[in-house]
Amino acid sequence: DQNLSSLIMIFGATGDLSKRKLFPSLYRLYERGRLDKFAVIGIARTQQSHEKFKQSVKDSVTASLGEKPNLDEFVSHFYYQSHDVADSNSYAALKKLADEIDGHYGLEGNRIFYLAMAPEFFGPIALHLKSDGLTDVKGYKRLVIEKPFGHDLESAMELNKQIRTAFSENEIYRIDHYLGKEMVRNIEVIRFANAIFEPLWNNRYISNIQVTSSETLGVEERGRYYESSGALRDMVQNHMMQMVALLAMEPPIKLTTDEIRSEKVRVFRALRSVEGEQVKEYFVRGQYGEGTISEKSVPRYRDEPNVDQGSNTETFVAGKIMIDNFRWAGVPFYIRTGKRMTSKTTKIVVQFKDIPMNLYYQTEKMLNPNLLVIHVQPEEGITLHLNAKKAGGHLEAQEVKLSFANTGIHAMNTPEGYEKLLYDCMRGDATNFTHWDEVAYSWAFVDKISKVWENQKAEYPNYESGSMGPKAADELLEKDGFFWWPVS
Ligand code: BG6
Repeated sequence: DQNLSSLIMIFGATGDLSKRKLFPSLYRLYERGRLDKFAVIGIARTQQSHEKFKQSVKDSVTASLGEKPNLDEFVSHFYYQSHDVADSNSYAALKKLADEIDGHYGLEGNRIFYLAMAPEFFGPIALHLKSDGLTDVKGYKRLVIEKPFGHDLESAMELNKQIRTAFSENEIYRIDHYLGKEMVRNIEVIRFANAIFEPLWNNRYISNIQVTSSETLGVEERGRYYESSGALRDMVQNHMMQMVALLAMEPPIKLTTDEIRSEKVRVFRALRSVEGEQVKEYFVRGQYGEGTISEKSVPRYRDEPNVDQGSNTETFVAGKIMIDNFRWAGVPFYIRTGKRMTSKTTKIVVQFKDIPMNLYYQTEKMLNPNLLVIHVQPEEGITLHLNAKKAGGHLEAQEVKLSFANTGIHAMNTPEGYEKLLYDCMRGDATNFTHWDEVAYSWAFVDKISKVWENQKAEYPNYESGSMGPKAADELLEKDGFFWWPVS
């Protein structure tokens, strides 16, 4: 029954994100009949005609989804406006176009402002949208904002202050595209819809949880951004911490946006802060050297374009996160992420504690612990590792795996993360976007680590491209008596 009519204004419409993700996702929504009344204004600095823009939208849809029907009909809803983000006249022209389109399609003044551009423009654009009257509408107004949300807590606060002058917290949709991933959304369902997990989901039965998100790509063309970011800001502050929060949160009393977010915030509040001398005990950083990926040799990070020859930027982070609350006291959450690693994989392994006594141990091998593996990507599914009697053997236990794979069953229909997030935003559901409090707590946590790292020169490179990161990342677990479960 929801009113999905909306005028979507995309700032940064000639950029990579728009082409690779946003246009194809909008098309998928359109194809599924999920876009009711809608129009899109693409906004960027370049001068170009509506026609040329429509063609580029078509091209990007075909590039990612193949030949599609109704493309002309789809792009007939698209318009283009060349724009100078710092010039009020530009906003006046945009407002005029928006009002016309709004009337033409009967969009009832509903507006989504999507900022898919460099972060230094987020604040100024938000301020202009307000002062130049674009947010003055009779329908809803929502701001969708891409990462990075600030560079540290201080800059995030400043940015937040700027966007809050034009939008209230519940009108702000901060994207963390991991929250659009099917299996990340599934964490909550696996936990709270199964009688066999939730009672065990605590420090009495779980020994540790491991979250790995590895990539094979290097820094590619993003050297300039990445040099001032590094893996800690690029992946840990947002995606990794979000997954940890979903794994650790208490069951919400209801599945509403506010309830879920407040449970996640409580996890962030319970994070054990790691600072100063403790950093090296809890966190490991790495930077890739030369190596081989898919049988091709690749250069070291320091030889990538726009990267300093003596760069101190980390392309890998492993860490031990402790959540000091009743449920999790004593259970390490190990996280690991990096570029130029062995495979492109995101996986969560929940390791249960050993049973009190092993009646079935074979002379050499101990029983395997029970594991619950959540495969986020590229495969989507869950695997539960159990022990069962070996067929024909004499009470000998062996590992069996119960697997559920999304692939094959739902694969064809698994929507892209961005498609789900755009749809959520149009429906006004902010659950899978990050609330300011989550952003603030995770920056506060991460800032203490970056402060130490920035002031100490690391011995880089310290892992080979194509490997699973520096040795120290393995030692981080070894000293607690654990090891990383293989992810690929
Ligand atoms: C982005 C980071 O947020 O996530 C990139 O900026 C990273 O550096 C990407 O490559 C990984 O996302 P995904 O969906 O490919 O795992």
